Amino acid sequence: MSVIVNRSLVVLGSTGSVGCNTLDVARHQANSFSVKGLSARANVNLLFEQIQVFHPQLVAVENIAAATVLEDRLISEGLTSTKVLKGEHAATKLVEELRPDVVMAAILGSAGLYSALRAVELGGTVLIANKEPLVMAGHLFQQAVKQSGATLLPVDSEHNAVFQCVAGSDVVDQPISEIVLTASGGPFFREDELPSWVSLSDITPDQAIAHPNWSMGAKISVDSATMMNKGLEIIEACHLFELPVEKISVLLHPQSVVHAIVNFIDGSSIAQMGLPDMRVPIAYAMSWPHRFDSGVANISLAEVGQLTFRDPDYQCMPCLALARDVAEEQSPVLATALNAANEVAVEAFLAGNLSFGKIPEVIAKVLGDRNGNPANDVETLIRVDYEVRKQTLDLVH
Ligand SMILES: NC(=O)c1ccc[n+]([C@@H]2O[C@H](COP(=O)([O-])OP(=O)(O)OC[C@H]3O[C@@H](n4cnc5c(N)ncnc54)[C@H](OP(=O)(O)O)[C@@H]3O)[C@@H](O)[C@H]2O)c1
Repeated sequence: MSVIVNRSLVVLGSTGSVGCNTLDVARHQANSFSVKGLSARANVNLLFEQIQVFHPQLVAVENIAAATVLEDRLISEGLTSTKVLKGEHAATKLVEELRPDVVMAAILGSAGLYSALRAVELGGTVLIANKEPLVMAGHLFQQAVKQSGATLLPVDSEHNAVFQCVAGSDVVDQPISEIVLTASGGPFFREDELPSWVSLSDITPDQAIAHPNWSMGAKISVDSATMMNKGLEIIEACHLFELPVEKISVLLHPQSVVHAIVNFIDGSSIAQMGLPDMRVPIAYAMSWPHRFDSGVANISLAEVGQLTFRDPDYQCMPCLALARDVAEEQSPVLATALNAANEVAVEAFLAGNLSFGKIPEVIAKVLGDRNGNPANDVETLIRVDYEVRKQTLDLVH
């Protein structure tokens, strides 16, 4: 019997990979959570199925035409106890109206910034998978936590692993000498001989999203293939654990068994291990400070046999190098520009409008045109996000 009983839960981005895994854990722990709200951009077929199972009070759909289709379907199927919020800020309104105990922030990209930040401003517990808002505005999330008393728990597997290694206590006062984020290397950086970036120029979207270990949404799968994902995670870790970039390193580990290692000043190293299944970090965040059954088995190290580790080669991984440079600048404006250019470049790649090889070139060009404007308020960052998206689209076309 779980010690967590009937907490109200809102899942932002419920139709995505993290969102579906979260609902899977919620179903597995049906007495612990009552799902009050769900959100999607446009996938109302899947959202409808989730409504049939969880009967939320409210759902938010960003795309207005799709929201109207859903509303009609709910009426025709007699599911009128679920109301629909529509449009750009629907997810934020959902959080404001429901004020749940727990919010899972799992929208994709910078589109999740307002709703995730608002959830933190309202207090309560926010489980954050949506890494892009943390990359852009991690300092604003930390400020909001201090003002509202919210609990912000990392869901990204490496950051959740770090959090587990420090046993959830305040890492700022911990004698940490280094945090090591492991990287599977995606589909391309796994072998002893790492490929040059030039040799990957003509990789197709199907090849890039075929992640060997993790099942994830398309954008983060491409980010894993370019190694930008690990770069974004370095910036995310600086904010979440309030550590300088010099204390964060990356280790290639193709088996994805060890998710992070924390090195302490006394020579101890604590690592977190588990199968590469997002339900493990999701369940830890949902059950913290306790633990409950996630539905995932423990890993058998005898079956895995060998665990290997090596340093990344930044020469072969231009996206990782760009992100590390931005992390060193400690500029939210540059981090926002990096993230926005990457989101647009990856979308263009997935749509067949940009080659894999050109992704870092486009991002580097955009970053080269920016300086680290010291204004770091949310309006400035949203403006930078908008301008960079426009500039990157022009470059791509
Ligand atoms: N997938 C993983 O295993 C994993 C691991 C660690 C961290 N993360 C992070 O978690 C976040 C979600 O990743 P994912 O892989 O779950 O993404 P995903 O499968 O692409 O799902 C994204 C979700 O966000 C919604 N969404 C997309 N654009 C939106 C917009 N403009 N407005 C409102 N909602 C929007 C989507 O709705 P529709 O379905 O209607 O489009 C969907 O519900 C990302 O920030 C990612 O970096 C993911």
